[in-house]
Formats: sequence, C-alpha cells, structure tokens
Amino acid sequence: MTDRLTIRRPDDWHVHLRDDAMLKAVAPHTARTFARAIVMPNLTPPVTTMAAAKAYRTRIVDAVPAGADFTPLMTCYLTDDADTGEIVRGHAEGVFTACKLYPAGATTNSAHGVTDVRNIRGLLAAMERAGMPLLVHGEVTDPAVDIFDREAVFIERVLTPLLRDFPALRVVMEHITTAEAAEFVAGHGDTLAATITPQHLHLSRNALFEGGLRPHAYCLPVLKRERHRLAVRRAATGGSPRFFLGTDSAPHEIGRKQSGCGCAGVFNAPFALESYAAVFDEEGALDRLEAFASVNGAAFYGLPVNEATVTLVRGGAVVPARIGEVVPFHAGERMEWRLAV
Ligand code: DOR
Ligand code: ZN
Repeated sequence: MTDRLTIRRPDDWHVHLRDDAMLKAVAPHTARTFARAIVMPNLTPPVTTMAAAKAYRTRIVDAVPAGADFTPLMTCYLTDDADTGEIVRGHAEGVFTACKLYPAGATTNSAHGVTDVRNIRGLLAAMERAGMPLLVHGEVTDPAVDIFDREAVFIERVLTPLLRDFPALRVVMEHITTAEAAEFVAGHGDTLAATITPQHLHLSRNALFEGGLRPHAYCLPVLKRERHRLAVRRAATGGSPRFFLGTDSAPHEIGRKQSGCGCAGVFNAPFALESYAAVFDEEGALDRLEAFASVNGAAFYGLPVNEATVTLVRGGAVVPARIGEVVPFHAGERMEWRLAV
C-alpha cells in the first residue's frame, strides 16, 4: 500500500475566491496547496473589464500570505454586451486567461450572464482566432427542464451547436456531473476538456437528504444520482488528459447556507487535494493523480507544469466543523491523506 505520494504542485482550474473579508479568509487555503488558480469572476458587480480584473488580482495577491508561491489567473465574466475589443486585448496583455460563460440565471451572481449565446457570436469568433479558452457553466436555465437534466440538455441545445460553429474554440465544460457530460467530453476532439470537483466524486444526490436537508452539500450543478457519480469518477481517474482538477470551491457564510433559501456552493479549498487523493486511492489510481491535478490542466491551457512538488502522506486530520464563518466540505470527517509540510 502506498503511504506517501510526491507529485508536481497542482493547480486549481476553477475556484471562487470572493472578495473583502471572505477573500482574506479563503485565499490562503487555496494558496497553501495550489500554485495557480483560475479565479471565477462572479463578484458583485461581475469582473468584465481589464481594470476590474487587475484590481481584483491585486486584492487576491494581498490576501495570500507573504511569500506564498501562488498566481491567480483571471477570467472575464461574459454578458450579452461583452466588449470584444477589451476582452481580446485583455487576453493578449495577459490580464484575462479565459472567459466565463454563465447562462443568465444559472447560478450565484449569474443575473448579468448571457441570455442566448447567439448574442456573443462575434466575441466567440474572436476568441477562437485568439486561442482564448471559453469556460462554460453547462446548464440550461429553462424552467421547464428538470434541474437534474439541465446539464445533459445544455450539451444538446447549446454546447453541440457551439462546438460545431466554432470548431477551433477551446472550451472547458466546468464542474461536470453527469455520465452524459463525461461521455461527450471524452468523445470530442482535443479542443474540449472538463473540470471535476471533489464533491461530485464523493457524493451522489442522496447526500442532500441524508437524515434531513443538507445545505452544505448543495451546489450547482446539483449532485446527481449514483450512476452519474460513478461515471464522473471513471472520467477523473481513467487517465484521459481531457479531465482535470477544478475544485469549484465556493464559500458562503453559514447563515447564507442554513437558510430558507440557501446559497449553492461547497467550500472545499482547505482539504481539496486530500479529498481528490482519497478518490484516486479508492479507485486504485493514485498513479494518475498527478496527471489529473498537476499536468492535464496546464497542458490544455498551454502553460508550463509546476516544477515544485507536494507530498501527500497517509493518515490525515479531522476536518473542523467550521473554518471561520464557513462550514467546509468533509466537516467532522477524518481525511485519509494529509499534505506534508
Ligand atoms: O455551487 C455553485 N456555487 N455553483 C456555481 O456555479 C457558483 C458557485 C458560487 O459562486 O457560489
Ligand atoms: Zn464555479
């Protein structure tokens, strides 16, 4: 049995670092483990300009401990009237690594999102030419579509035509949750990839109702039935370079989760790598953790892999019931792995 595993330092290709006091509370957890992170732009107001992204990047760098080796990679939040010139310039100048497409109304702070991808066709063509990745929240918002089907319907209605119309556009389907998404990504060419969260590897939708309503397991896309969880686990641990680590760590204060209308989001940053390691260990795939966590994402984004390493050791800590104002993923559980310092 492997009790110690050294891998290249990983990156988190999808994280919500928030702002102000929450940013200061959560960013050190991401910076402890990850060398780089793709930072989601769904602030209030959303990050849509180079100036806003630069200022946010500075606030993030100020929020991590001095000397931390951590680089935030910024994204631009797409709206119906996204400014193509600003975005392409921002990419060329290294301010925006990618654009994030939230269908309007799909999730937290997505009200300003895109109401119809036809509204941003010119921008998508420019991104395709520039080699700028498009990151998609892959759910339709049509209230007539059952919430558990929204990802599969998005593939049919939105993603398939989009990939046909922009065949060279690099697209990441974020936080996939279904067998349909795993199959679709695996079966497409190398312009399409997907991130996978730890919660969608550990939990099926039963976790939302285990002994009562469990707001801390609620995120979007919502947890799915067990067969989907197993398909997503196979995708993550199966060795395909088109699946990589993106935590979707999305902290909300405890009162905003334990509420009559609770916010979506799982705060998994403090034990994220440990959580993925447990899954790869259970699947007998620890030898594939490094590719998933530290190689595949960098390759897709055309960035170098990290030269530093981290070491995981068997025998972890009990996850605290609370970290600051937030309840973390795996609260109260003992982790099988820990990061050696
Ligand atoms: O659960 C989620 N929380 N899913 C998202 O897409 C957004 C995120 C957030 O910002 O809270
Ligand atoms: Zn997210």
